[in-house]
Amino acid sequence: MKIAPSILTADFNILKEEILSIGHSDYLHLDVMDGHFVPNISFGSHVLSGLKKITSIPLDTHLMIENPLQYIDQYVEIGSSIITIHVEANQPLESICRIKASGIKAGISLKPKTPLEDLFPYLDKVDLVLVMSVEPGFGGQSFMEDQLEKVRELKRLREAYKYNYIIEIDGGINGTTAPKAKEAGVDLAVAGSYVFNAKDRNKAIDAIR
Ligand code: DX5
Ligand code: ZN
Repeated sequence: MKIAPSILTADFNILKEEILSIGHSDYLHLDVMDGHFVPNISFGSHVLSGLKKITSIPLDTHLMIENPLQYIDQYVEIGSSIITIHVEANQPLESICRIKASGIKAGISLKPKTPLEDLFPYLDKVDLVLVMSVEPGFGGQSFMEDQLEKVRELKRLREAYKYNYIIEIDGGINGTTAPKAKEAGVDLAVAGSYVFNAKDRNKAIDAIR
């Protein structure tokens, strides 16, 4: 299982040092929040524009914003390898098409209360499905284990229909919940507070891989 630390919990006063402190990451997870789609505002693309100058770790951008279509180009510009939008946001299909037309991987995500069926029209179009195991908006929340049923179903669907998305989980991943996620079929796990609150961050990343 690959690990994508979320920089939402990082100290933005020393962002460069924070990024350099998690060199064992497989991806950097960037939680973009607009204060409309989720009740929190995090950071815009200008804050992230220097990332590719300080790290070669691929960027896994998670757009928790109401109108992602308007912003796709900005997150392509900063060097995202993956851009994930939410099925509950506006124009999900147009956004996915825009991301793929830019030559990068497109992901789709769903909130805990959103049924997996809502993703069915998109599964043959995306490279990644992001299952939220917390209500999006904040780091440090508790893992919602019932969301693993969506992971198991996504794994079954992928095998049955030969889809080629990877399965990512996001929220409340730590030393206890990571093995459950892995066992359910998760390919890539986001970990924010568990990594950034650890004494040895790279050791924490390796421990949950
Ligand atoms: C929540 C974000 C998550 C969160 C993960 O809206 O999408 O990526 O930052 O943080 P932890 O791992 O602390 O739950
Ligand atoms: Zn996220």
